[in-house]
Amino acid sequence: MKQKTFFVCQSCGQRSLKWLGRCPACNEWNTLVEEAAESVSRKKKSPSATPVPLREITFTAGERRSTGIGELDRVLGGGLVPGSLVLIGGDPGVGKSTLLLQAVNGYLSGNDSSALYISGEESAPQIKLRAGRMNIDSDNILILPETSLENILSAMEETGPAVTVVDSIQTIHSEELSSAPGTVAQVRECAARLMETAKRLEIPTLIIGHVTKEGAIAGPRVLEHLVDTVLYFEGDRSHTYRILRAVKNRFGSTNEIGIFEMTDRGLTEVLNPSELFLSEKTTEVPGTSVTSTIEGTRPIIVEIQALVSPTSFGMPRRTAIGVDYQRVNLLIAVLEKIGGLQLGLNDIYVNVVGGLKVIEPATDLPIALSIASSLLDIPLKREMLVFGEIGLSGEIRNVSSSEQRIKEGIKTGFRSFLMPRQKRELSKMDEAAEYHEVEDIHQALEILRRD
Ligand code: TYD
Ligand code: MG
Repeated sequence: MKQKTFFVCQSCGQRSLKWLGRCPACNEWNTLVEEAAESVSRKKKSPSATPVPLREITFTAGERRSTGIGELDRVLGGGLVPGSLVLIGGDPGVGKSTLLLQAVNGYLSGNDSSALYISGEESAPQIKLRAGRMNIDSDNILILPETSLENILSAMEETGPAVTVVDSIQTIHSEELSSAPGTVAQVRECAARLMETAKRLEIPTLIIGHVTKEGAIAGPRVLEHLVDTVLYFEGDRSHTYRILRAVKNRFGSTNEIGIFEMTDRGLTEVLNPSELFLSEKTTEVPGTSVTSTIEGTRPIIVEIQALVSPTSFGMPRRTAIGVDYQRVNLLIAVLEKIGGLQLGLNDIYVNVVGGLKVIEPATDLPIALSIASSLLDIPLKREMLVFGEIGLSGEIRNVSSSEQRIKEGIKTGFRSFLMPRQKRELSKMDEAAEYHEVEDIHQALEILRRD
């Protein structure tokens, strides 16, 4: 007998014939949901394409179009490519709808083409209200509150917009499937058919996908392989800035980030992010150091804080926020064993100011120095910028883009640099600044103790 229903993992899309508590593919608990098997009668023959010699394929450069938002353009790889399918994932409330409304407005500017904004979540008046806050008003932005995929596709055909936004993929459903909106089967089917229409009509299409609380992306994750570009919009409610990150990009690099600030009039671009991630202190305090981290192609100045305090009961606590926990443990071991610091009976907390995540080897030295500074109760000089990787034997290793890091530091007002020994002469931008090149953790600790 033919199986009428399947159990589909909402996290990774794995199918199973029976219910399981834990998905055998992605090991997530409680993610299997019963879904009706798709009817086989949908087997329409799709039109076949003919093979074309590579030489004869023409590609016209410069066909990307700006969204009017520089930070978004950069993350996209220089603008929006016609017919591309872009997925924007993020927590509910982070500002995805806001960003895309601003983006379509910018994309249309100076053009008499139109944009189709499909909203399955908000009513037209709600969108109007948001647009009003951002001073967006246009005859060319067409709002369509609709959740049926078939109606959405025919609206795309009929209006032939210059850009389409689908807000969000979890709310739309195809009438050909019986499963509920938001299930893997629906999300996948809807995205695949939007993709087909977007490519055929050459309409760049931006799809919003919500990330669930656990960080698992029910929906968006199963789409990552299908779409051309996957962007994640991050940031937490306690901070006003937001970071847009490319996770996949068929038309550009994936290591660019865009930084925005949420204001009462929508998102504004943060063009000089370095001041965002420094604390407002004016005096030197033990336990903090400032580093220059490379995000994509851009250096950002961030402050790393550590607090070392005696453990009250047996087990010392170790907490790392914004940096890699395992890495912090490794650095603590190096500081103890090689640096000779007594950290074993202390709780250690490490935090990145402003809530940024910095996962980069160059932050080893600043993390280690913040910890040492807190333990020894000696502050680092306020105008000192620190970067460098630390090896297991305590050696300080070179990192990429040293010159760029220093240049950003000088721009932000730093006059002293603690860094790995450079293999070649740096073209120093500021002759008056101090440059401490260190080879191992001992030399670095010496500079902390001396200054
Ligand atoms: P929204 O774009 O609706 O988030 P998402 O689509 O990702 O769920 O943004 C929601 C939050 O942004 C909401 O808490 C209000 C805030 N916001 C502002 O602070 N200023 C503004 O101008 C706008 C439009 C929203
Ligand atoms: Mg929204």
